[in-house]
Amino acid sequence: MAPYEDTLPGHGLVFIFTPVTGIQGTSSAQHLGLFNLTNNGNSNNHVLGVEFDVFMNQEFDDINDNHVGIDINSLKSSVSNDSGYWQDDGDKSFKELTLNSGENYQVWIDYEDSWMNVTMAPVGRKRPSRPLLNVSLNLSQVFEDEMFLGFTSATGQLVESHKILGWSFSNENISLSDELITTGLPSFVLPKDSILKSKGFVAGFTVGAFLVICVLVLLALVLIHRKRLRERKRQEMEDWELEYWPHRMVYEEIEATTKGFSEENVIGVGGNGKVYKGVLRGGVEIAVKRISHENDGLREFLAEVSSLGRLKQRNLVGLRGWCKKDVGSFLLVYDYMENGSLDKRVFDCDERKMLSYEDRIRIIKDVGFAVLYLHEGWEAKVLHRDIKASNVLLDKDMNGRLGDFGLARMHSHGQVASTTKLVGTVGYMAPEVFKTGRASTQTDVYMFGILILEVLCGRRPLEEGKSPLVEWVWQLMVQGQLVFALDERLRTKGEFSEQEVERLMHLGLLCAYPEPKVRPTMRQVVNVLEGKNDEDDSEIENMDSYLLQQLKSRDILSEYSQYFNYASHPTFQDIGNSSSMSLTWSESVVEGR
Ligand SMILES: Nc1ncnc2c1ncn2[C@@H]1O[C@H](COP(=O)(O)OP(=O)(O)OP(=O)(O)O)[C@@H](O)[C@H]1O
Ligand SMILES: [Mg+2]
Repeated sequence: MAPYEDTLPGHGLVFIFTPVTGIQGTSSAQHLGLFNLTNNGNSNNHVLGVEFDVFMNQEFDDINDNHVGIDINSLKSSVSNDSGYWQDDGDKSFKELTLNSGENYQVWIDYEDSWMNVTMAPVGRKRPSRPLLNVSLNLSQVFEDEMFLGFTSATGQLVESHKILGWSFSNENISLSDELITTGLPSFVLPKDSILKSKGFVAGFTVGAFLVICVLVLLALVLIHRKRLRERKRQEMEDWELEYWPHRMVYEEIEATTKGFSEENVIGVGGNGKVYKGVLRGGVEIAVKRISHENDGLREFLAEVSSLGRLKQRNLVGLRGWCKKDVGSFLLVYDYMENGSLDKRVFDCDERKMLSYEDRIRIIKDVGFAVLYLHEGWEAKVLHRDIKASNVLLDKDMNGRLGDFGLARMHSHGQVASTTKLVGTVGYMAPEVFKTGRASTQTDVYMFGILILEVLCGRRPLEEGKSPLVEWVWQLMVQGQLVFALDERLRTKGEFSEQEVERLMHLGLLCAYPEPKVRPTMRQVVNVLEGKNDEDDSEIENMDSYLLQQLKSRDILSEYSQYFNYASHPTFQDIGNSSSMSLTWSESVVEGR
């Protein structure tokens, strides 16, 4: 018996012996198709049935809705039992079988010597030795001479299918029933409800899904929180950084252009760190200055250069951008200058590389324009703070270009007060810087004066065993031998104008004058370099004579001794050992970079 999906199963099936093929008044939808209420229990029926009943009719004293019974002329079974079988093995207990499960069962009905046995088992199992029903019956009043035998059943609103897959009957040979082949029969068991429909699954899935959603929400909250934190941290760090021009570059990109800051790309080493050559996509060459030590002047530096960076000036080394990775790792990206720095072509270099007199004058002029531009060319005044030959670079056309403007702010050479840093390079720093620690346009002019002198003389401002450059040139001027200050290698060539040399030496000396007020402005300096008179300045008719007049009225040595309380110009050692200024000197500074 096989149930239908989504319908209540019923009613059942009967194996019958009957004298006629149609029992009078039976209904196909009721009472197993066996009797009706008028003929039920009538002994004239001559009907024997073995019912397999799946509906419990109380009016017929059914024991339950899954039983096997023997009916004689009546729907009230003479004997009945739960459907099932007595097991032969194990504890020999009774095993119930659900009739309308769709499972295939085999039933044996034997009648011999007034005893009727009804036995059932799942197909494929051996016939159980103990019958389900075993009853003594006298059927002589029931059976007629000729009887029909077969099956009857009914389905009404309760629907199921009743299938006889095979059967045999014998009057004589009871053991024939064992010959029935029951293998390979189709199964009518309804496919089990998919796990997806099971309550357990639905409940588990709901709880699981809820938990997963909770975890995802939590995770999202954590991620959002972390992102916000990072964002906040980033903003804390970069709010001000983002304002400044030139804009940030991607650290990793710069790192890649310098082959990961490889040694073969190093083009110079300065006080801040190494300088690397790099090639951007598109073949543009750059110089990357990697500043590794911690510096708190970074912000001031960027503020200063960002105001300037918007304008380009042909005598400044272009600052292309910058980037910062962690604290203490800062990159400045400059245009690459093919011919390196000025110092390498003035001091200790061979003849081939050495700059000619004209080149030197031209480069000094270039640098003059650059400093003037820094001081006056832009709405904000920018101080260079570290003008010197090694910060003058030469491009491919040998133009002088001033680099590292403002960068001296980031040097941590020493401190005078907690807010004012002493910046610059020894030998180039104006004397008042030592006193006040403060840079000004006049301190830049001083450095420019030193630059003029060092480039013309081919001699560094401070050299071991020699008197300081300014003092030496001054003395030559006093002796009227200023032309002897000119680089000997240029002098021997003789390709120079003595008058021009003197004029420039005067300019250098005046710029490097100890008293700041006496020093000319950068505009005046540039005018002298260009050989122009400043029309607007009524005080000064002629710059050359003005210079001379200024110089002659001064005694530089007494000025210096006033500043330093020394008998003469301070020596390298004097500056280094100075205790009254409580300076801390880094190695590089003492070594006179
Ligand atoms: N833009 C550039 N193009 C080509 N070479 C450069 C460039 N910038 C720097 N260099 C090279 O790197 C060297 C080191 O430069 P850096 O500015 O770091 O040191 P410095 O000028 O000697 O001292 P300081 O740290 O006081 O500036 C220079 O002397 C120069 O040879
Ligand atoms: Mg430099």
